[in-house]
Amino acid sequence: MSPIIEALNLSFRYAGEERWAIKSINLKIYPGELVLITGPSGCGKTTLCRCFNGLIPHFYEGELEGILIVDGLSIVENKTCKLAQRVGMVFQNLENQLIMLSVEDEIAFGLENLNLPRDTIKERINEVLSILGIEHLRYKSPYELSGGEQQKVAIAACLAMKPKILVLDEPTAHLDPLSSKVLFDILSSIRKRLNLTIILVEHRLDMVASIVDKVIVMDKGQIILQGGPREVFTTPIIKAIGIGIPKLILLYEDLLLNNLKLDFPPLNINEAELLLRKLLSR
Ligand SMILES: Nc1ncnc2c1ncn2[C@@H]1O[C@H](COP(=O)(O)OP(=O)(O)OP(=O)(O)O)[C@@H](O)[C@H]1O
Ligand SMILES: [Mg+2]
Repeated sequence: MSPIIEALNLSFRYAGEERWAIKSINLKIYPGELVLITGPSGCGKTTLCRCFNGLIPHFYEGELEGILIVDGLSIVENKTCKLAQRVGMVFQNLENQLIMLSVEDEIAFGLENLNLPRDTIKERINEVLSILGIEHLRYKSPYELSGGEQQKVAIAACLAMKPKILVLDEPTAHLDPLSSKVLFDILSSIRKRLNLTIILVEHRLDMVASIVDKVIVMDKGQIILQGGPREVFTTPIIKAIGIGIPKLILLYEDLLLNNLKLDFPPLNINEAELLLRKLLSR
């Protein structure tokens, strides 16, 4: 299978800045993967996301080096409007993203710009409202919704465009733990149902560790680690950069120091319970 996103030595420096916001990024993301991008504040996560739909280099000015191919399209040679049909983007700051008077209009907005027939637009609105379980919000104004509801509306509006790739930049920044869990469950279920590739920027690693296929850790504009979550979270250098390592991984390592070896590092409570039971029965 060939990658749906491939970066080759991708670097970007914002106009007027001396420092590269991202530097020599190499990555391959395959269709259907759910990929976590994490790393300390300012390490370049949002900048990388802006490249995926061509906001960089077409909207943000600066210097771009290297190559980024998204679903067969070079981000340099293709305009954001073309890339945006393949890459849905939900930003960190939702106030700037929800602009219409009702949730229905918000979802219809992008579809109308594609000049789709009215019936198709209605169908798609119904479909995404149902997928996210927000039919009851249809006629509400996005401004009267809670953060979690707004987040779902923004995702619904993206999904209505039927993108192949969904990029979410810290979608739980304003959500409580329960709403965050609900959102991650939704992401985990729609990726298979809609055959989506999902890129998730997140700090809450405890919550996402067990739903992601691949973890990309960035620091100071560069990718310093990438691989499966068990492998990445147990790599020693990850401790040095100040990200919140999942507590179950810390437990695994603590037990290991005490000569109690679980068969593999657990990523959720169910796994941990199974492994601990096995250990205790030995
Ligand atoms: N529009 C911009 N113009 C100039 N510099 C920018 C711009 N946006 C980001 N930067 C700089 O680029 C670097 C990377 O920022 P970015 O927003 O990509 O980091 P981040 O990993 O998303 O951080 P956070 O976790 O705080 O969201 C930072 O040094 C930041 O100051
Ligand atoms: Mg950011």
